[in-house]
Amino acid sequence: MQSNHTRQVAAVAAKIGMKCRLVQESWVPFPDAVYDRVGNILMSRVMGAEIELVEEGFDIGIRESWERALEDVKAKGGKPYAIPAGASMHKYGGLGYVGFAEEVRAQEAGAGIRFDTVVVCSVTGSTQAGMVVGFAEDARNVVGIDASATPDRTRAQILEIARNTAGLVGLGRDITDEDVVLEEGYAHPAYGIPSEETNEAIRLCARLEGMMTDPVYEGKSMQGLIDLIRKGRFPAGSKVLYAHLGGVPAINAYSYVYRNG
Ligand SMILES: Cc1ncc(COP(=O)(O)O)c(C=O)c1O
Repeated sequence: MQSNHTRQVAAVAAKIGMKCRLVQESWVPFPDAVYDRVGNILMSRVMGAEIELVEEGFDIGIRESWERALEDVKAKGGKPYAIPAGASMHKYGGLGYVGFAEEVRAQEAGAGIRFDTVVVCSVTGSTQAGMVVGFAEDARNVVGIDASATPDRTRAQILEIARNTAGLVGLGRDITDEDVVLEEGYAHPAYGIPSEETNEAIRLCARLEGMMTDPVYEGKSMQGLIDLIRKGRFPAGSKVLYAHLGGVPAINAYSYVYRNG
């Protein structure tokens, strides 16, 4: 219900003049009275998407509710362009973040800096998969921080998408298990539920940097980043690029948690 990705799909559909039908599943067991009214879903509604709320819980794979929606669009005479959760299991799902790698290289050249490590939050996998492929040839570390709480599935999905994406861009080498680094231990207690450590990371980052993160995604990757730095994971002098994927709207669905800041 608070998917950032479906909100972006609604925006693109509006911009290019297509109708948009969103299947919003109940991935987060969070009892907020307005969870399905604020943040991302509010924006998707304003942008004209037709929204179907379904009860299905967290699962990063292809779902029956999504397939049913496609059939329904066809039955009503429509011709659907199908995009699964996070665009991850879409044939071209990994390409966006191959483009990110190209953009980082261009900006580095302009700024005279070179990052050796990229830290990113992972759930459905195509973001990290695209980065793994995009940075495969210039010896960077892509460190994923799991926010799914089902890391084995996320890791397998990253590998599958990265392999497919490597083929699409003609990488010239296979992607292996070792290319996929996914840190566990920060997603507890569940997908979409912030722990005390997540909230500490959100507040620290907001109060030191004025940078907002959300309790579902970047709050957890920021928690992971801070913890890994404290544990000495990055040698002194490392240049770490933290990828913020823009998930802030969802924090509105957690207003009671942050009622005192
Ligand atoms: C804000 C934000 N960060 C990180 C992610 C994780 O990306 P992925 O699902 O491609 O692993 C998402 C996914 O929707 C997201 O919305």
